[in-house]
Amino acid sequence: MNAIEVKHLTFAYEENKDVVKDVSFVVEKGSYTTIIGHNGSGKSTIAKLLLGLLEKKSGEILIEDIPLNLDTVNQIRRKVGIVFQNPDNQFIGATVRDDIAFGLENHEVDPAEMDAIIEHYAAEVNMTKHLDHEPTRLSGGQKQRVAIAGILAMAPDILIFDEATSMLDPRGKADINRLIKKLHEEKKLTILSITHDIEEVVKSDNVIILQKGRLAYSGSPEAILPQEKKMTEYSLDIPFATELSYALQKCGVKVPVEISTERLVEEVCHYHSKK
Ligand SMILES: Nc1ncnc2c1ncn2[C@@H]1O[C@H](COP(=O)(O)OP(=O)(O)OP(=O)(O)O)[C@@H](O)[C@H]1O
Ligand SMILES: [Mg+2]
Repeated sequence: MNAIEVKHLTFAYEENKDVVKDVSFVVEKGSYTTIIGHNGSGKSTIAKLLLGLLEKKSGEILIEDIPLNLDTVNQIRRKVGIVFQNPDNQFIGATVRDDIAFGLENHEVDPAEMDAIIEHYAAEVNMTKHLDHEPTRLSGGQKQRVAIAGILAMAPDILIFDEATSMLDPRGKADINRLIKKLHEEKKLTILSITHDIEEVVKSDNVIILQKGRLAYSGSPEAILPQEKKMTEYSLDIPFATELSYALQKCGVKVPVEISTERLVEEVCHYHSKK
């Protein structure tokens, strides 16, 4: 079963101005899939379409084989959790605790269990001491942490992150990425992560590349990230390890093109030990 299947999806905010153009892709259940593309390529729009927050013009969206429509939208929203790009637009509670509780109430979680769940996820994102603060008074990064805790608390099968850690400092980002990876591995969650971080793409199972509202690529990161010409055409960077492999090759070091820094280091060490 696919977690998400998108077939020939087209969408426009304004008449005759399609911003998503005949896009098709699948996200395998249990996979870690990334979506990349330059600013305005349609990534956030697709994320909103997947939850039925925008109405598609044509095409089809299936979540765990269920076609998304007016009858199924609530059922689907219980399966899919999304953390939006802009954390300001996603708070309703007067305190962080109320805010997370509100999401749980919507998911009909037993009130007796709520406090333990809230405290567990607040601790996971390092926000315990802010539980009784007003969400509006938090910093951007703190808001993102709370938004992530709120979604994780609802235990969805599919998690969509739309640049959900963009405001976190590098260490905070690494902590949250570790948490997400742990949940992905332990709970077999499907992760769909919209990102500008090419190193996150390197570590993902599959990558979807969008270019001006169209699907440019869908498949393994290994097969596309080293292609400098294509990546430039998509307005994307190649990974640091790839750049370094090319530079090493140019000065005569016989290393294969790698996308992962760890693997490149292994190759260079291997080359060095043979000399
Ligand atoms: N509410 C809106 N009304 C009209 N046009 C919109 C609206 N939101 C986005 N757009 C347009 O739709 C296109 C796709 O926007 P979208 O936000 O999906 O891009 P994105 O890939 O998420 O970009 P970014 O990397 O900057 O987040 C852009 O051209 C944008 O200007
Ligand atoms: Mg966006």
